[in-house]
Amino acid sequence: MPLAALTACAAAVLSLATARAQAAPVEVLHYWTSGGEAKSAQLLKKMLEEKGDTWVDFAVAGGGGGNAMTALKTRVVAGNPPAAAQIKGPAIQEWGDEGVLLPIDDVAKAGNWDHLLPPEIARIMKYKGQYVGAPVNVHRVNWLWINADALKRVNAQPPATWDDFFKVADALKKAGVTPVAIGGQPWQEAETFESVALGVGGPDFYKKAFVQLDQATLKSPTMVKALETFKRIKDYTDDGQVGRDWNMATAMVINGKAAMQFMGDWAKGEFTVAGKVPGKDYLCVAAPGSQKDFTFNVDSFVFFKVKTAGVEKGQKDMAGLLMSPAFQEAFNLNKGSIPVRQDVSLAKFDDCAKKSSADFKSAGANGGLVPSWAHDMLVSPAVEGAFYDVLGNYWSSKDETAQQAADKLAVAAKTN
Ligand code: GAL
Repeated sequence: MPLAALTACAAAVLSLATARAQAAPVEVLHYWTSGGEAKSAQLLKKMLEEKGDTWVDFAVAGGGGGNAMTALKTRVVAGNPPAAAQIKGPAIQEWGDEGVLLPIDDVAKAGNWDHLLPPEIARIMKYKGQYVGAPVNVHRVNWLWINADALKRVNAQPPATWDDFFKVADALKKAGVTPVAIGGQPWQEAETFESVALGVGGPDFYKKAFVQLDQATLKSPTMVKALETFKRIKDYTDDGQVGRDWNMATAMVINGKAAMQFMGDWAKGEFTVAGKVPGKDYLCVAAPGSQKDFTFNVDSFVFFKVKTAGVEKGQKDMAGLLMSPAFQEAFNLNKGSIPVRQDVSLAKFDDCAKKSSADFKSAGANGGLVPSWAHDMLVSPAVEGAFYDVLGNYWSSKDETAQQAADKLAVAAKTN
């Protein structure tokens, strides 16, 4: 190569390197720290860096994101928000009200998001008509994960009703296997209850109780029945649950220490990392009684107005990336969820994901598609926290009755 060409080439390489080195850092707050989650976050980092942006990791451990939200508030109050944060549901509106979010409507228009997203999800991503959030996935919450060998050991089928469930759980107990793995953290108890309530009461009850926060429904006999069913599950859990992280509970099902777990499909990310195959090593079925229904939980990122110059380019690169077909496919294969973009092929996805997608569509058509309140998608953070407290206390109390807990839920629904 002639010298002039070599020099030009070297200069080009140098200027690219300088541009990369100078790209304003995009600090990203997230709480994806378990095996499957971390793999998904790593992929996002890698794909963002391929765009010439710099990722600064702000990971706050703690399933369900409670710790991350506390960390975020501290930073925003101090006037130093991260460039991007994993936030979802009604909290997006609350941050919008604070005037701290960067609109990404230009990215959404260029990417045609209005046509690619289900309207009920697009609505959550907008503040006063403008996109401020970029969604990455659809997680289904009302799943029951089952260790296939444990089920075979007691010669049982996956339980379709609550009666079946307790029969199978009794058989497992007799066989010396812990029937249900759970971590004693408020959000895990709340999530389990949410699936029980949907399975026991059905979607109309769920909507009246948790969408409309109807006082009579919150205290109703159906709610009492749901609470009794929830508490009955405790007899089938182990003593070591206090403070246990959700992925440790999933690990118990993966290695056969426990047989079943109620958990959203981020649990599948853990099975995947462990090399387990759905249908062979483990089964994914809807929580008893909720086969036709779907509690959805959509992860999304919002972007904060930051003072540092040049960050907006990285923020908008990231917003566009999150909704790109390549990212949606690769990310969701790791995360256990399905793409939120409706035009992404599921050819590479497993049977659990295909079932999730089919059920998402049919539940949407038959009124069974409901937002997960236990995962920040429905009630305000204040009501959610109050519900967590009621359910956590009831779960651990020896003498509180289901009716007392139902009455407390009705009070909690009025929290401001
Ligand atoms: C959910 C979140 C999921 C998963 C899970 C456990 O709230 O939407 O992405 O991370 O918590 O941390």
